[in-house]
Amino acid sequence: PPATPKSRQTPKAKPATPGSGGQAQPATPTPVAKRRKTPSKKRVSAQAEAADLDARVFFENRLNAREADTTAYAPGDSDRLAFEEARTAAALEEARETGLPQAAAEAGTPSTPCSGAAGVGYQVKKIQLGAYEIDSWYISPYPDEYSRHPLLYVCEFCLKYMKSVYTFRRHCAKCPLRHPPGDEIYRDGNLSVFEVDGRKNKIYCQNLCLIGKMFLDTKTLYYDVEPFLFYVLCEHDTDGYHFAGYYSKEKRSVQGYNLSCIMILPPKQREGYGKLLIEFSYLLSKKEGLPGSPEKPLSDFGLLSYRSYWRRAIYEILLAMPARDSPAVSIEAISKKTGMTVDDIISTLQTDGMLQRQPGLSNYALVVDVPRAEAYLQRARDKSLRRIDPAKLRWAPFLTKAAADAPPPPPHLQQLRSSAAPMSDGEQSDDEQSDGDAPT
Ligand code: ACO
Ligand code: ZN
Repeated sequence: PPATPKSRQTPKAKPATPGSGGQAQPATPTPVAKRRKTPSKKRVSAQAEAADLDARVFFENRLNAREADTTAYAPGDSDRLAFEEARTAAALEEARETGLPQAAAEAGTPSTPCSGAAGVGYQVKKIQLGAYEIDSWYISPYPDEYSRHPLLYVCEFCLKYMKSVYTFRRHCAKCPLRHPPGDEIYRDGNLSVFEVDGRKNKIYCQNLCLIGKMFLDTKTLYYDVEPFLFYVLCEHDTDGYHFAGYYSKEKRSVQGYNLSCIMILPPKQREGYGKLLIEFSYLLSKKEGLPGSPEKPLSDFGLLSYRSYWRRAIYEILLAMPARDSPAVSIEAISKKTGMTVDDIISTLQTDGMLQRQPGLSNYALVVDVPRAEAYLQRARDKSLRRIDPAKLRWAPFLTKAAADAPPPPPHLQQLRSSAAPMSDGEQSDDEQSDGDAPT
């Protein structure tokens, strides 16, 4: 109920516009400044208005109208001018510190959520991550207020990004993570691979993609990370697990991709980590029993790395096959042993001139240049690059895991299943498929 006694309530207000009818005056008195704006008040003489206002009370009788009048403190032209001058000076100061173009700084940037690479044209030029200050290759869609800072500080464990070194240091002092969230599914010496679910660790994976985009031109996954798994490669020492690179993979790829985006941090490139993660992605494909291929298009470095990996993988299989001229040597057999798709095998063999059309026939022969293949593998061995040891993987395919986590089927379905014929090894039943299709 209104605190103001009835007798002191404002007299009935005049209609706001002629003919609009008399609207009931609200029980709460209207502030002075507002009342003066209504056109109907123009018709009220100044004296009558003063008397009217004096009759009012504000803040439960604590102030009269004159005391409640704030118009004397409203910003005037000189105040607005001073404000504009201060704002421009601050923008120019920031532009000087951050190296932004002056015009852009003067225009100011709204603090919006990420507007994408084509947003306001700002670009994070560098990140400081762990021991490295790394230059960006491409625009990454950090939120605009971060993009204005050419150098961002990134926690190497949780991948949170920060604008100021002060905030960054405070974060480092209290960040509880010393390794990526998720499961460590592979460890060999000082290298580990963590599997991180985009649904369970959304922020981490988004931050990961923002770092990845700094070095990827074509890929556009940044925020919709839930349908993906991320495999994060780390080097560990007594301080923790230091981020070196990652690749992403769709949980369910209709096109049969076993890798969406791969990125190795520039300071860690050319040490074989790219090929190591590619080898890892094929190991998972083999465990899944499905051949896989990287998502297209490949970047130049991506293609170089894949060509090099494919060649090595195929040559190793070809040279290890006992009877090289037997019908057992087929593209399907190579696919099964490498986890590569038939298309990728054919394209690699064709590039190396090892698929030759039979004269007068419509089919092709696999013609292996053994000395060349042996020399290539010897050169690869001489580089002493790290390889994946399949025995060190602790992992079950995502869909199988989802099926294992699913509640047991109702009794009538269990009966149906037990009455079905047993399957031979390697065969996949419709039951398994439908388990896999269950929401995860
Ligand atoms: N110049 C010439 N050759 C190169 C280069 C380069 N800059 N980079 C890699 N290679 C070759 C290497 O010589 C090597 O071949 P070799 O062993 O026969 O000599 C092969 O590519 C792989 O080398 P690695 O050291 O294993 O690869 P690296 O750790 O450098 O990682 C990667 C490769 C992941 C492509 C890295 O360059 C990167 O992160 N680039 C930026 C992101 C990118 O382009 N990702 C691929 C996009 S495509 C996709 O995601 C499906
Ligand atoms: Zn952190």
